[in-house]
Amino acid sequence: MLSLLVFSLLVAPAVQAVDSVSPYHHYVNAELPARTWYQPDSHPVHTLFRRAGANDGVTYASVGSPEWSKGFPADPVSMQNMPQAWLDALHKAVSAGKIPDVPVTITPPGSNPTYPDGYDPMNHDVCSSTYQCRIPGDIWDGPDGYLSLSFDDGPLPPSPTLYKFLKEKGQHATHFYIGTNILQYPDCFEMAWENQDDIAVHTWTHPYMTTKTNEEVLAELGWTMQLIHNSTGGRVPKYWRPPYGDSDMRVRAIAKEVLGLTTVIWNQDTNDWSLSDPVPITSLDKIATQMHTWLTGSKKPGLIILEHELSNQSVQAFMDAWDLVVSNGWKTTSVAQMEGASAYQNSWNASGPVMQAKVGDLSVHPPPSQTAESTT
Ligand SMILES: *[C@@H]1O[C@H](CO)[C@@H](O)[C@H](O)[C@H]1NC(C)=O
Ligand SMILES: *[C@@H]1O[C@H](CO)[C@@H](O)[C@H](O)[C@H]1NC(C)=O
Ligand SMILES: *[C@@H]1O[C@H](CO)[C@@H](O)[C@H](O)[C@H]1NC(C)=O
Ligand SMILES: [Zn+2]
Repeated sequence: MLSLLVFSLLVAPAVQAVDSVSPYHHYVNAELPARTWYQPDSHPVHTLFRRAGANDGVTYASVGSPEWSKGFPADPVSMQNMPQAWLDALHKAVSAGKIPDVPVTITPPGSNPTYPDGYDPMNHDVCSSTYQCRIPGDIWDGPDGYLSLSFDDGPLPPSPTLYKFLKEKGQHATHFYIGTNILQYPDCFEMAWENQDDIAVHTWTHPYMTTKTNEEVLAELGWTMQLIHNSTGGRVPKYWRPPYGDSDMRVRAIAKEVLGLTTVIWNQDTNDWSLSDPVPITSLDKIATQMHTWLTGSKKPGLIILEHELSNQSVQAFMDAWDLVVSNGWKTTSVAQMEGASAYQNSWNASGPVMQAKVGDLSVHPPPSQTAESTT
């Protein structure tokens, strides 16, 4: 765990260049987008995770028990035990031409991932989010007037303070969780789940995903999805955020085409991950100033601020800004609620029923009208 933290803190400065580019440059999301809230039956993700509908009789081991953690890989992510069905789905997608053949990047310590000569990260064939290239369908901006509440890197010991605060304020956030942290801090996980917050994917071991092979990308996402699935009564996560915001056409396609995941980045960055560093690159004061600028500024587009449940200070930075959020009239929601969409691929949210994959069967939980239309 410590090594994971140290790793993320050491390597993270490389991406901070993202801050210097105008977040509004590629702004497209003026209104609530229409989206399906379920994947069509034909999507491979439906065969990859056993569904726990009311009728299929699957019971899941209780979170934190030895049976619950059994079978999940230790850090680093295991390629050996990956279910064959996941690999088959990947290879089928590759054969069908759905996974662009973008080469893996190399990340020298302290610098951004780099592509081999001849591959431009801003070209639409590569489109690296580290370099601020936006792939259509990925989420960078909120709808006007919205501030989505999302936190990365948990669950961790600083998380409960945040969860108590959110609960007290009647708010539901999206938690982009690291798989190995869920294994290590099941009680923190349970607290967010009992608060009915949305649980999303931040990979198993927090790597730069563009440095990973197709199979490794699959393992990083798949194991995290499986653990969340097994810990939420069979829900299949729908959103993921790449560590360091590092994704590209290849990584994104594996997430989307094989696992049905939507990629979420951000449009403002607090650098709050560095607050607990020996040499932080920001401070609570500096973040308070940034928050003031953003929260009293334009509401077009809505805000997706990168924040972490990584340290007491990063949690404090969010809580300190809360009064400004309220006094400026932001609509505060989880990422899914901001999109007017479900939090899971097979369930509307933590309290809604878990669906069997069945196109058009909206009888269990009709989504709000603006989400009924398909975009696929
Ligand atoms: C997840 O839950 C399913 C259903 O109970 C179980 O078969 C499986 O062993 C669990 N663990 C993993 C790693 O899939
Ligand atoms: C879950 O969705 C239902 C239906 O939209 C809503 O009434 C409920 O408040 C939601 N629960 C949470 C925790 O957001
Ligand atoms: C973080 O805050 C908690 C709760 O106030 C406290 O128990 C813990 O010691 C703090 N941790 C650090 C590293 O300061
Ligand atoms: Zn992270």
